[in-house]
Amino acid sequence: MRILVLGSGAREHAIITALLREGAGHEITAAPGNAGIAQLVETVALDPTKGAVVADYAVDNDVELVVIGPEAPLVEGVADALRQRGIATFGPGKQAAQLEGSKAFAKRIMDAAGVPTGRAMRAGTLAEADAALDAMGAPYVVKADGLAAGKGVIVTDDRAAARAHAEHYLQQGGVLVEEFLAGQEVSLFLLSDGSTVLPLSPAQDYKRIGDGDTGPNTGGMGAYSPLPWAAPGFVDEVIETIAQPTARQLAEEGTPFIGLLYCGLIVTERGIRVIEFNARFGDPETQVVLPRLVTPLSGLLFAAATGQLAGTPRPEFSDDAAVTVVLASEGYPDSPHTGRPLFGLDEAEQVEGVHLCHAATARTDEGFVATGGRVLSVVATGSDFAEARARAYEAIGRIGLEGGQYRTDIAARVVEG
Ligand code: AMP
Ligand code: GLY
Repeated sequence: MRILVLGSGAREHAIITALLREGAGHEITAAPGNAGIAQLVETVALDPTKGAVVADYAVDNDVELVVIGPEAPLVEGVADALRQRGIATFGPGKQAAQLEGSKAFAKRIMDAAGVPTGRAMRAGTLAEADAALDAMGAPYVVKADGLAAGKGVIVTDDRAAARAHAEHYLQQGGVLVEEFLAGQEVSLFLLSDGSTVLPLSPAQDYKRIGDGDTGPNTGGMGAYSPLPWAAPGFVDEVIETIAQPTARQLAEEGTPFIGLLYCGLIVTERGIRVIEFNARFGDPETQVVLPRLVTPLSGLLFAAATGQLAGTPRPEFSDDAAVTVVLASEGYPDSPHTGRPLFGLDEAEQVEGVHLCHAATARTDEGFVATGGRVLSVVATGSDFAEARARAYEAIGRIGLEGGQYRTDIAARVVEG
């Protein structure tokens, strides 16, 4: 199949790695891709958020499937522009992508569909935010209403910090003040063709920068899959109580969700609750979910894009454990230092069961340099978590980046039981 993948992160590197692993001879192009992806497939310098540009390219090059990786093109309506030109597209249209683009929209859909989530109050002014903080009480959860690259949420006992966060994001629209939910977090991805949803294997992401879940939230510092501690029937419960009702609600509103429904969940004592929806594959969770996928990814994405999931069996996964550790630049998430050289990438990939997914790298005559906050994901699989984790840390230990930071406790809790 001729496939165009939009995006430039480690997630897109992981998607392309999974498509190539099928060995089906797909012709894959990434736009714009990154320096790691360019080692694998052709890359083209298109702006992935410009619907007309992407659609012209897809038509001119006989692309049979477009896979939209990041949220920005989705929120811009790139999927609509492609579908209008008759191109099979994996990714929701502008309206359905509001599930991620607007926390207030997501709350409305969840209310209408009866989906379990935390209580929330929307605030448009500082006075409203103050009232909401007092009504909800500590710990305080304040969320930017719009897209914020994983940095829009604060969870804190410090009322002044919660208020300052609200004040900052009020200038960019509005905020939600939400009930604090305690429990394990789970990311569950579901393929949706607008009416039928099919689950992938669940993963757990580590959002905070520091070991032991300390410091500010990030885009994600590591992940593992599967979740040996999840209750039997967990995935079915999410489908029945969350994913299917959400897909049905969006379809009834005339904005069917075609693409990847990312359910960000907390398993509380009182049941499973949604803390966020995303409209795309998660990063870094994709890096641990897709290496375990046995069913060919291209067929699943194409079936979702073309309304054929009802007749498609549930995707199958290997029993392997997968762990990913993200290498970030000094100063991330606030103000990353960039331009520093990376050493030891080949040595890292020589560790058995290990591969790298690049996120923010560039190739120079001397080798790769880091160009952003989250630089790359080291991904390891193994027959159990002890093996996968040991391999991931052996590999990341071989990589040199001045000031580079990574968490040392990814998947530690599953190895310890
Ligand atoms: P989000 O961007 O909505 O996923 O939020 C980022 C992180 O904040 C989540 O991964 C959680 O760790 C935390 N979080 C978000 N909402 C809540 C909540 N209602 N209660 C507790 N923690 C939350
Ligand atoms: N890992 C969190 C996200 O992709 O939004």
